[in-house]
Amino acid sequence: MTIKAITGMKDNLSPDIALWQAVEKTAREHFSKYFYEEIRTPLLEETSLFERGIGTETGVVKKEMYTFDDKGGDSVTLRPEGTASVVRAYIEHNIQRADPVTKFYYIGPMFRYERPQKGRLRQFHQIGVELFGATEPAADAEVIGMLDLFFQKVGVKNYELQINSLGCTECRVPFQKKLTDHLKSLAGELCADCQERITKNPMRVFDCKVEKCKEKLKAAPVLLDALCVPCKTHFDAVKSGLDAAQTKYIVNPRIARGLDYYQRTAFEFLSNDLGSQNAFAGGGRYDGLVKELGGPDVPAVGFALGMERLILLLGDKKPEVGGKKTYIVFMGSGTESPARKLAGELRAKGMTVEIDYAEKSMKAQLRRAGKYNFDYVIILGESELAKGVAQLKDYKTGEQKEVVFSSIASLF
Ligand code: HAM
Repeated sequence: MTIKAITGMKDNLSPDIALWQAVEKTAREHFSKYFYEEIRTPLLEETSLFERGIGTETGVVKKEMYTFDDKGGDSVTLRPEGTASVVRAYIEHNIQRADPVTKFYYIGPMFRYERPQKGRLRQFHQIGVELFGATEPAADAEVIGMLDLFFQKVGVKNYELQINSLGCTECRVPFQKKLTDHLKSLAGELCADCQERITKNPMRVFDCKVEKCKEKLKAAPVLLDALCVPCKTHFDAVKSGLDAAQTKYIVNPRIARGLDYYQRTAFEFLSNDLGSQNAFAGGGRYDGLVKELGGPDVPAVGFALGMERLILLLGDKKPEVGGKKTYIVFMGSGTESPARKLAGELRAKGMTVEIDYAEKSMKAQLRRAGKYNFDYVIILGESELAKGVAQLKDYKTGEQKEVVFSSIASLF
């Protein structure tokens, strides 16, 4: 029996891989311009990191983690997201001492045992950023604006940025009581999950995808109307910052986010082109998390985008490939060695060059060059070799000319 990839986990190969690489390259360049540096953390962490970081009552921790005991009997988990790991590393390396403001980005796989469907996998990939050490709303606005510009740069169309404030413990605790009372009056009409949320985490009802619940919750009170003065001032300043940067957004008081660490700003990027998994990025402020995980009291804000969903949005957009591509065709005695030498010279100049390992028919070599859309074909046969020339064919225009073999590298 042949072995296949595990359900919800996909190989990533041509032709999509070129788009993945182009998106990742743009992300590295774009985030570096805002003084972010890359961080790479392990895929496996102690299970308690995610339990404490994300919250034991979240769907991710309760139902979706790949958790197992390793051979030493320790409970470990494949990371379901990047924030908790980056915070762990931030504390472990005492980074706050080196610089009070630190910015990281990361690119890599995450694991959640969800029901696979379009845009939802069990191994998926995120590009994320985490900014530590700034409580100021200017940091939130910059992080959100940076992501918005990134989406424009890679060519996403038809999307919406929604923002909300989830308040702080000062305003959230009394609000939760008010919300709980309201929800209790509806209890019989809500789904089983929402009924459980009423006692465990009432704000999460706004995450519910069940139509009946969404309808019933339309009249529920929202935290945005009950923010304390500092949280309201902060949220107003985030909005002003976005306005100043001409970042378009709408305020959606029902954004709850699926992870427990958020405070104040929360946001999502949504697209109707994605079907039911319509959020292709999300993030917010999580000022209490570093302290909660045993570190200093350092504020933070960040986001992660889902690569698979972003790639779906970009569709069959072809990335710009750097450098021209040349196929070198060799035919006949004595031609292989100079052809291979030329391939080396052209590659050293930055060109992409393909050359066969075994001598095939001219037709077979040209067919392969055509299949992969090469810009040029250089043909070296015995008669060309004898005259010290080669045929240079521009595959795009069809034009073919004889060129001096020893000068080919200088033509590009
Ligand atoms: P999240 O909203 O759970 O946030 O995930 C961010 C993005 O990852 C989602 O918007 C979605 O595009 C993608 N994603 C999540 N689950 C899946 C899945 N099963 N299949 C495909 N794509 C998926 C976080 O993970 C936070 N750590 C973001 C953050 C960083 N907040 C602050 N800093």
